[in-house]
Amino acid sequence: MNEPMQTPQSRALYERAQAVIPKGVYGHYGPAAQSAGPVFFSSSNGAHFTDVDGNTYIDWMCAYGPMILGYNHPKVDQAAARQMAQGNTVSIAAPVLVDLAERLVDMVDGADWALFGKNGADSTGLAVMVARAATGRKRILKIQGGYHGSAPWMQTPGNTGTIAEDQAFVIEVPWNDAAAIRAAIAEHPDDIACFISSPYHHPVFADNALPDDGYWAEVEQACRAAGVAIIVDDVRSGFRIDLAGSHTAYGFTPDLMCFGKALGNGHPIAALAGSDALKQAAGDTFYTGTQFFNAAPMAAALATLEELEAADAATAITEIGERLGKGLADVAAAHGHDLRVTGVPSMPYLRIIGDGGSRFHARWISECMQRGAYVLSYHNKFVSLAHSDEDIDRTCDIADQAFTALA
Ligand SMILES: Cc1ncc(COP(=O)(O)O)c(C=O)c1O
Repeated sequence: MNEPMQTPQSRALYERAQAVIPKGVYGHYGPAAQSAGPVFFSSSNGAHFTDVDGNTYIDWMCAYGPMILGYNHPKVDQAAARQMAQGNTVSIAAPVLVDLAERLVDMVDGADWALFGKNGADSTGLAVMVARAATGRKRILKIQGGYHGSAPWMQTPGNTGTIAEDQAFVIEVPWNDAAAIRAAIAEHPDDIACFISSPYHHPVFADNALPDDGYWAEVEQACRAAGVAIIVDDVRSGFRIDLAGSHTAYGFTPDLMCFGKALGNGHPIAALAGSDALKQAAGDTFYTGTQFFNAAPMAAALATLEELEAADAATAITEIGERLGKGLADVAAAHGHDLRVTGVPSMPYLRIIGDGGSRFHARWISECMQRGAYVLSYHNKFVSLAHSDEDIDRTCDIADQAFTALA
């Protein structure tokens, strides 16, 4: 049995960080930094990273989604390096801007144009502005617990630094509840600009939920009848379910499609794609950022999309994820535990139910992490093309050891 890994160098750096950085390590990396696992890496390769203490981990978080082909992917990183050598941030745009937009429009069902930014929240924020510009309406319909970024209107009501007015025009409805959407539309006739939702529900701290049969068809019908623009937030799930956009897997046609995370395999880029009907509104909406025209991340994204297509990536990572989920559930069952795996296989959400509840689950995850499988207790995991059968077998072995350690 492996001994739990020690992380003294990570801890020492974390202390230094806290002196000069609020929270030390902040944002979505913050909660994990407070756990028993590693906080700082020294190198990464394929599906693995090594921390500053020299411990190597199988990474099932994939940087919370961006890493889909493997860290330091040679074709992607060489494409970025080639573009960097020609120029990255220059006073005029690079041709790769057009190449990338053409590629995305070719690949994604229902996309007639694309605009690029850096983070997922650039895309979701822009999508709402475009919907408002096109409809002349102000309200935003969204799913309770749905995450679209860190701009004030996207945050959980009551979060520090936000005010009630930030969400004054946001209406929340439960997931899989088309009747609630119809009711909200009826309550605010002619005032709802858009419905924004991920294609399936992937909240943190709760089982993930796929759309019920017929849900998206009902949503589409209700929104179309009322002139409400449909925004699919594919920032997290994009290219992990279907390369043509996750909406194709669930049989609906959005007006606007938000991508980020996996688009650049770790290079900073996000995109909003949309239908011809909204092209004018998109062009009229003020949207820019100093770094939005960085050409190297665009070259990286183009290479990523090419690699994803060549490898039929969504199918491949779905199969890898299915093997992982089944393997872990079998290990849990062998120890008398019920491990529930929800969401889509390429982004599995794990939860041990029953005895010990969430505390036992968190302890098991912590034991796994300290033995070399980098996973978090409260967030969906991510599967990449770089994960091998050996990674799955080793992870199951680690999971087995973690249960034994807790027995
Ligand atoms: C579904 C979804 N939308 C939007 C975002 C925001 O993306 P970013 O953090 O790149 O701004 C995220 C980030 O986790 C996300 O998961």
